[in-house]
Amino acid sequence: MVGSVTPAPRHYSIATIPGDGIGKEVVPAGQEALDAAAHRFGFSLEWSTFDWSCERYTRVGRMMPDDALDQLRLFDAIFLGAVGFPGVPDHVSLWGLLLPIRRGFQQYVNLRPVKLLRGVESPLRGRDAGSIDFVVVRENTEGEYSDVGGRQNEGDANELVTQTAIFTRRGCDRIMRYAFELARTRRMHVTSATKSNGILHSMPYWDERFEAIAAEYPDVKTNRFHIDILSAHFVRHPDWFDVVVGSNLFGDILSDLGPAVVGSIGIAPSANLNPEREFPSMFEPVHGSAPDIAGRGIANPIGQIWSGAMMLEHLGEVDAARAVEGAIESVLADPRAPRTADLGGSAATVDVARAVTNAVSSRA
Ligand SMILES: NC(=O)c1ccc[n+]([C@@H]2O[C@H](COP(=O)([O-])OP(=O)(O)OC[C@H]3O[C@@H](n4cnc5c(N)ncnc54)[C@H](O)[C@@H]3O)[C@@H](O)[C@H]2O)c1
Repeated sequence: MVGSVTPAPRHYSIATIPGDGIGKEVVPAGQEALDAAAHRFGFSLEWSTFDWSCERYTRVGRMMPDDALDQLRLFDAIFLGAVGFPGVPDHVSLWGLLLPIRRGFQQYVNLRPVKLLRGVESPLRGRDAGSIDFVVVRENTEGEYSDVGGRQNEGDANELVTQTAIFTRRGCDRIMRYAFELARTRRMHVTSATKSNGILHSMPYWDERFEAIAAEYPDVKTNRFHIDILSAHFVRHPDWFDVVVGSNLFGDILSDLGPAVVGSIGIAPSANLNPEREFPSMFEPVHGSAPDIAGRGIANPIGQIWSGAMMLEHLGEVDAARAVEGAIESVLADPRAPRTADLGGSAATVDVARAVTNAVSSRA
């Protein structure tokens, strides 16, 4: 007798770090929408919450415990809100939590989609939904964000500071290859962000590696711009771009400028990926902890929810990811649906989260 094999239930364990400020408000909103997607598509998400944050730092002097990475490594993915709060210097929250996770888990791809959605007004004149659709691929583990450097003659007139940028062949090649592979799934075009006219050593090297990797992908078109004019082109010609690859610093700046040209930073998602899947990847909105609006329940949860959709895609739940993205698009496109103040409305975080969750659950 031939028996039918029942597939094992799909189950994912997720480490959740709400962090500070609005992170604590938008993370539950994201969980609600993702749980609805899991329910609809027949898998489950088990959330374990960690209180690692600036609040913890002020209490015990550390953003996270010494064995934090050992704890996190057991999970399928990490779902992060944002860290940073007045009273704790930003370099403490960054170097005490975000960077150790990104580096320790070799999350060398920071992926930030930039898409103008229906119902969201671009600050640029005459831009319609769909006319801006590109992805910033930022190098996430080396480059300008290094801890190599120091201070000498501190406090006197001869005080000097050095900060060394680190560019390795391995680091450049793997981020560029990722960008080219991604372009092959999109519109077959990669733009490189450089500054080889002013930065004498690292950026000519970046250009050299870009040319070498581009030669492996003769079917993909390329161009490159210095970061200054590239920023201007993001505003004047955002439709020129498909995949944009940049170093840690340039990618960081471009991936805030990108969301700004498509409406609000409150809806922008990002993923910190370890493409080889040796370690968990981490998903977080582009925005920070927004202390100016924290505690009022008015933050836009869409950036967090959309980051969750990227997490579902990474976990292999592609249909669920598309359903969450579709729900976000339908809520934003509906003039009667609630929207938060950053998008010109007056709704609360929980109202928008509920609207997206309902749209995820509906099969219509
Ligand atoms: N990945 C991270 O954890 C991360 C990223 C960026 C900034 N930060 C930290 O966040 C803190 C604040 O930084 P910032 O002010 O430069 O950037 P921010 O993104 O927190 O806020 C910038 C502006 O955008 C608004 N905004 C941001 N997210 C919003 C949302 N979801 N809905 C509505 N409005 C939103 C804020 O109210 C603010 O006016 C700092 O401590 C910074 O270090 C953390």
